[in-house]
Amino acid sequence: MSHADSKTRARRVWIQASAGSLSRLGLVSDQIAAPSSDQVQIRVRACGLNFADIFAILGLYSATPSGAFTPGLEFSGEIAALGDIAQQKTGFRPGDRIMGLTRFGAYTDLINVDYRYIRKIPSSWSFEQGAAFLAQGLTAEYAISDLGSVKKGETVLVQSAAGGVGLISLFLLEQLGAHAIAVVGSPSKIDLLVSRGVKRERILLRSASTFRKDLRRAAPDGIDVCLDAVYGPFFKPQYDALRAGGRYVLFGAASMMPEGKKPNYLRLAFQYLRRPALDPLAMISDNKSLLAFNLIWLWDQTDRLAGLADRLLTYPWQNNPPFVGKVFSFEKAPDALRFFQSGESVGKVILSV
Ligand SMILES: NC(=O)c1ccc[n+]([C@@H]2O[C@H](COP(=O)([O-])OP(=O)(O)OC[C@H]3O[C@@H](n4cnc5c(N)ncnc54)[C@H](OP(=O)(O)O)[C@@H]3O)[C@@H](O)[C@H]2O)c1
Repeated sequence: MSHADSKTRARRVWIQASAGSLSRLGLVSDQIAAPSSDQVQIRVRACGLNFADIFAILGLYSATPSGAFTPGLEFSGEIAALGDIAQQKTGFRPGDRIMGLTRFGAYTDLINVDYRYIRKIPSSWSFEQGAAFLAQGLTAEYAISDLGSVKKGETVLVQSAAGGVGLISLFLLEQLGAHAIAVVGSPSKIDLLVSRGVKRERILLRSASTFRKDLRRAAPDGIDVCLDAVYGPFFKPQYDALRAGGRYVLFGAASMMPEGKKPNYLRLAFQYLRRPALDPLAMISDNKSLLAFNLIWLWDQTDRLAGLADRLLTYPWQNNPPFVGKVFSFEKAPDALRFFQSGESVGKVILSV
């Protein structure tokens, strides 16, 4: 018997009228249909912010839906209703605490999602921690294990190490027995990393003029893997630091994040034209690889992502929840996004519903 009923329900939802400016984001009320057979309806208790939310709102993310859309790729909450198939396949019940992913649409207090994109929240975690995990955890696991093939004893550079993906990456690397070199963009983030067990001499401050030298000092024998979503002027020094057999995993370009509500297209065009590039022929004799990905373009490969989520959950998370750096109320989503865009955040930024 279905746990869903046919009723539509009222909800509040953030709508970005069209991509291009944060000032076009507004909170409205609408109605949501009952979940279909393979969907679960969730009363959202927390939404996790991802850097992609800002790129989407500013119109700089190729996967953004055209026209009006609701930002947000992940959430946590309690199950309100289930379709028949969703109930059979998951065994979940109304009231269960779950965390989930959606291809946009998470900034709301009620959502329907395919049952394959949700998992139970570990029992000791809060809703905020549950909403801080899947998108960044899958990114870290895919970068480290699937593409980076990181092995015990290897040296791995982690850019934006105090951020959401960064902190989860540090934990996964520790579990694998790899040695991390952590890079951050501002000194205020160093103490957080030290308090989480990273040795001070393994933490680098990203400053354009001394970065190459600092990296050589921290890793005199070079690095095996680089996990980078900053790109820009730091790409080349990091690529050069790879030793033979090294893998450069590129999955973002935060250095191209515009300041302010709207992008400065002239500045972006300049950055784009001056972007660093590699010569594939030279890469053969260097024995270095560049691997790149954007998980959102794997969204339709549901089994692959589900397998990745199951693998991610085999690590000992119960006593090592993701780090939530700052919580804003749901109604303050634009403030939360502006704070996240500033680059000053540590850990995960959350909207609490
Ligand atoms: N390809 C994928 O599938 C995928 C999936 C998820 C995330 N990502 C990427 O992974 C990165 C980390 O994501 P996250 O959600 O965990 O974010 P995050 O690391 O918590 O926050 C983004 C960080 O980017 C750094 N940054 C560098 N240049 C910046 C600039 N000009 N303006 C603002 N921030 C700047 C800042 O840290 P520091 O200054 O300390 O470096 C900032 O804290 C992002 O670039 C994101 O786009 C990619």
